[in-house]
Amino acid sequence: MPTAPLHTLDDGTALPALGLGTYPMDDAEAERAVAQAVAHGYRLVDSAANYRNEAGVGRGVLAAGVPREEIVVTTKLPGRDHGYEQTLRSFEQSRKRLGLDYVDLYLIHWPLPRVDAYVDSWRAMVKLREEGAVRSIGVSNFTAEHIDRLERETGVLPSVNQIEMHPLFPQAELRAALAAKGIAVESWSPLGRGSDLLEDRAVRAVARAHERTPAQVVLRWHVQSGAVPLPKSADPGRQRDNLAVFDFTLDEREMASIASHTPHRLGGDPRHHEEF
Ligand SMILES: NC(=O)c1ccc[n+]([C@@H]2O[C@H](COP(=O)([O-])OP(=O)(O)OC[C@H]3O[C@@H](n4cnc5c(N)ncnc54)[C@H](OP(=O)(O)O)[C@@H]3O)[C@@H](O)[C@H]2O)c1
Repeated sequence: MPTAPLHTLDDGTALPALGLGTYPMDDAEAERAVAQAVAHGYRLVDSAANYRNEAGVGRGVLAAGVPREEIVVTTKLPGRDHGYEQTLRSFEQSRKRLGLDYVDLYLIHWPLPRVDAYVDSWRAMVKLREEGAVRSIGVSNFTAEHIDRLERETGVLPSVNQIEMHPLFPQAELRAALAAKGIAVESWSPLGRGSDLLEDRAVRAVARAHERTPAQVVLRWHVQSGAVPLPKSADPGRQRDNLAVFDFTLDEREMASIASHTPHRLGGDPRHHEEF
């Protein structure tokens, strides 16, 4: 059974090199999909208060028959709960829904610069980590400027930034800025959900050359780019395929051909996007 190799975060904890996305699964689907994914070798699961599936994700983790400490469970703070006290309260609600004693990775879902409370939320995240309620803290959809501000005002850097990233939007500049600060990158919509990336001629040519699926070569592109992709699927065959990307290598030419599009986002721009 393949499992993903592990990265070490700046706080010393381990982060598997590939994880399972769970949006838009509901509780029942998430429970099945997570338990099945863990049985296939997944050890990293992504959720969020706003996905409304934390209860299912938690049940799937506990039903999986693998020691709890081997699985990295992620959830995220919703925009409606930004602020110091609100973040502490929101975390408790997430933990209760998950049905877990601790959360491995807790992220601020979006920066919401107009609300301008992400620094207060960040101070609460730091406290949660100090108390041991959370193992690692991070952010999602933060620009380099948002992270600079966290560092300036709190002195604490996130361990992870989960960002939109795929060959149509490779985020080279932001990734370089994060790498310089020792912040790990997770990629959301790694397969380019909502686009025709998996039909792309260059992707298909590389897939044929390696006798792999288009999804596998795209996920391999993430791994070799140093990012942790979080492909979503509840389908057992696709879950297996998506994890089986650690036994082949793309060369430089293939890496470049997969990501040769004019970069464009599929999701919201964090400088303006609001999600509560
Ligand atoms: N932080 C954020 O703001 C944010 C935003 C968006 C997403 N996320 C996270 O990132 C995760 C992944 O992103 P995403 O769900 O948007 O997009 P994605 O993983 O790029 O794409 C998911 C789509 O690809 C299909 N798929 C999966 N494996 C496949 C394969 N091997 N071959 C062909 N098709 C395949 C899935 O279909 P089936 O389901 O039918 O298999 C689904 O339609 C989410 O689930 C969520 O956990 C985070």
